[in-house]
Amino acid sequence: MRISIIGAGYVGLTTAIGFASKGHRVIIIDTDNDKVNLIRRGKSPVWEEGLEVKLLDFVSNQGNLEATSDYQKILDTEMSLICVGTPSNSDGSINLSNIEDSVKKIGKVLSKKTDYHVVVMRSTIIPGTTKHLIIPLLEEHSGKKVGEAIGIAVNPEFMQEGKALQTFLKPDRVIIGEYDQRAGNMVLEISQDFGAPIVRTDVTTAEMVKYASNAFLATKISFINEMGNICQRLGIDVYTVARGISYDYRIGERFLNAGVGFGGSCLPKDVRALIASSKKHGYQPQLLESVLAINEAQAKKIVEIAERKLGSLLNKKITVLGLAFKPNTDDIRNAPAIPVVNMLVEKGALITVHDPKAISNARQVLPENVSFGNRVPEAINGSDCVLILTEWDEYRDEGLYQGKTVIDGRRALDPQKARELCDYHGICW
Ligand SMILES: NC(=O)c1ccc[n+]([C@@H]2O[C@H](COP(=O)([O-])OP(=O)(O)OC[C@H]3O[C@@H](n4cnc5c(N)ncnc54)[C@H](O)[C@@H]3O)[C@@H](O)[C@H]2O)c1
Repeated sequence: MRISIIGAGYVGLTTAIGFASKGHRVIIIDTDNDKVNLIRRGKSPVWEEGLEVKLLDFVSNQGNLEATSDYQKILDTEMSLICVGTPSNSDGSINLSNIEDSVKKIGKVLSKKTDYHVVVMRSTIIPGTTKHLIIPLLEEHSGKKVGEAIGIAVNPEFMQEGKALQTFLKPDRVIIGEYDQRAGNMVLEISQDFGAPIVRTDVTTAEMVKYASNAFLATKISFINEMGNICQRLGIDVYTVARGISYDYRIGERFLNAGVGFGGSCLPKDVRALIASSKKHGYQPQLLESVLAINEAQAKKIVEIAERKLGSLLNKKITVLGLAFKPNTDDIRNAPAIPVVNMLVEKGALITVHDPKAISNARQVLPENVSFGNRVPEAINGSDCVLILTEWDEYRDEGLYQGKTVIDGRRALDPQKARELCDYHGICW
């Protein structure tokens, strides 16, 4: 199929490479010319293992992936997948300005198209958005009836950063929310060889499936952090408890890693948006509010442990290892490391940070007086305390920390081995 993908971020780029690798012809459209120019040269604007090699191959050798900022190119395709960002407003509600902009532009271009065209929402959008915002906007700007000349479907993305392409190509399930059956059938056509169970439903239910999934994952993490905080007081290792409960097939083993909490571009923003939307509809989602409160408290807890160990943090040298919200990505959006560094700086600590991939993103948001270490041994040399906030493999060597005070926010180290070599503290174990 000929597919246009709107938005060349983590999701759009992965989706483009994923569908190109399935033999589709893909045009990726982004308003950011720098990103478009990078992609044209086969360079990935985001870091993900293996993404750039594939990108270069499709752009330069196979020629089935191109990038542009020109929306007119949609006319060369049968389907447009919207993958633009949906960030938070300051009150936590979803900011739909990128969605509105892209839908208006698509609508204008589709006013000139004679054949049927499908618009598919892959961005995470709050339930009701397609029905109450996207369809009216598309009809207004195209002058056509949605469900007839233009089809619409919601096909939420579930890829995981850190293994984006792998999880894109092997999804656990495919959700197809269809406004018209023809649109649903076309999404089915490009999805069925992923070999995943397929749930076909209406557009609003499909939007909700994405939020319910992320809310559940966030809840699992805050649940195990709460267990960790209780276990720590009782002298019990929460990781052994997690292993013990994980064999219950109703619980499972994933997302039970106690630590400094969840971050990233999805879980915090999506839980906040669901809370804001629930309140707007007259429901106070107490569980979700607690999930966020527990998460925010974990980041503060790591600073409190540092203060307990070092006393006043004024002029104390502290090294923060890991800035990305999880390993194997350069994404620092809502990463716990960012508020932790800010809290430490406010308390007068002298901060050195290290991350194998996220430094250039971090430089744009961290205070100017933070130092950046190139290598781990240099970064921790002379430091009064080391905080581990992302479990990159290169931090997992207990030998690195001989004689140091270490606060592990991710269970990156084996506590027993670490305690033999250094003054080791787990955040909740
Ligand atoms: N990152 C993830 O792991 C992930 C996973 C599943 C779903 N999602 C959802 O997918 C969506 C995209 O997330 P992301 O992480 O790729 O975001 P991102 O910020 O990395 O990328 C968004 C891209 O959209 C472009 N853009 C913005 N407005 C545009 C417009 N009007 N026209 C064309 N391009 C435009 C931006 O320039 C940017 O390149 C969000 O709704 C997010 O919640 C993200």
